[in-house]
Amino acid sequence: MEMVHTAPVLELQSVDKSFGPIDVLHGISLKVHAGEVLCLLGDNGAGKSTLIKTLAGVHQPTRGKILMDGAEVSFATPRDAAERGIATVHQFGGTFPLMSIGRSFFVGVEPTKGWGPFRIFDRKKANDIAVKAVRDFGITRIDDGDRLVGGLSGGERQSLAIARAVHFGARVLILDEPTAALGVKQAAHVLRIINEAKRRGLAVIFITHQVMHAMAVGDHFAVLIRGAIAADFRRGEKTREEITDLMAGGETMADLEASIDAQERRHA
Ligand SMILES: Nc1ncnc2c1ncn2[C@@H]1O[C@H](COP(=O)(O)OP(=O)(O)OP(=O)(O)O)[C@@H](O)[C@H]1O
Ligand SMILES: [Mg+2]
Repeated sequence: MEMVHTAPVLELQSVDKSFGPIDVLHGISLKVHAGEVLCLLGDNGAGKSTLIKTLAGVHQPTRGKILMDGAEVSFATPRDAAERGIATVHQFGGTFPLMSIGRSFFVGVEPTKGWGPFRIFDRKKANDIAVKAVRDFGITRIDDGDRLVGGLSGGERQSLAIARAVHFGARVLILDEPTAALGVKQAAHVLRIINEAKRRGLAVIFITHQVMHAMAVGDHFAVLIRGAIAADFRRGEKTREEITDLMAGGETMADLEASIDAQERRHA
């Protein structure tokens, strides 16, 4: 593929992260290219959130490097990472339920009209821009920027947060379990939005427990087990069953079934 020749938008080289005496991440090396979805898989406590917090400037690596476009970067704060175009969307969209769509879209960057002490939030302009941005993303059910974010479905909220990140120029979109709390239809909707972000050339890091969701949009997969990359492969290189087994930390589905059977026999 041609993208092999361009520097990854984001790369980690041998990143370790410890909290005092607790080593959480060990030698993490990963690359994510523009227009590509990297799925980060792993069981509870594997270190997924710690890894993305390290990418987003919440934590600093204890050792190792972070590179953007081939050049080393360091983020002292989440703001530093955001200024470089790294956007993180959390499970519930991270937006404000009691705010209107237009208002939440522009938190921190409100367009104003008037000047000096008379500058006021330009509600109509904010609503128009927000509604257009989300509709351009294919979220056609949002047409009134005055609606409260809290009245949106979980999938719509996620989609709004993604559209917002893209609108403000994100280059790397990090999604921490965006589909975990969603039903099938809503999850499909969010997966469609992820594909759209990819089509627009963002580098996407998608964290999920759901192998089906990963397989639906992933180009590249990394499985994290106890803070280390246990497997790293591309679309089509592993079956769903192999991925599920990897995520269970090498314990196979067959082992799990055998252990449940044994337990049931003991209770019988
Ligand atoms: N600030 C911290 N100080 C000490 N240990 C921490 C800290 N943050 C995370 N850890 C530990 O690091 C390990 C990985 O946690 P992390 O939240 O990254 O896992 P995760 O893969 O996101 O799990 P989940 O799927 O449950 O969200 C856990 O054992 C956790 O207790
Ligand atoms: Mg987590």
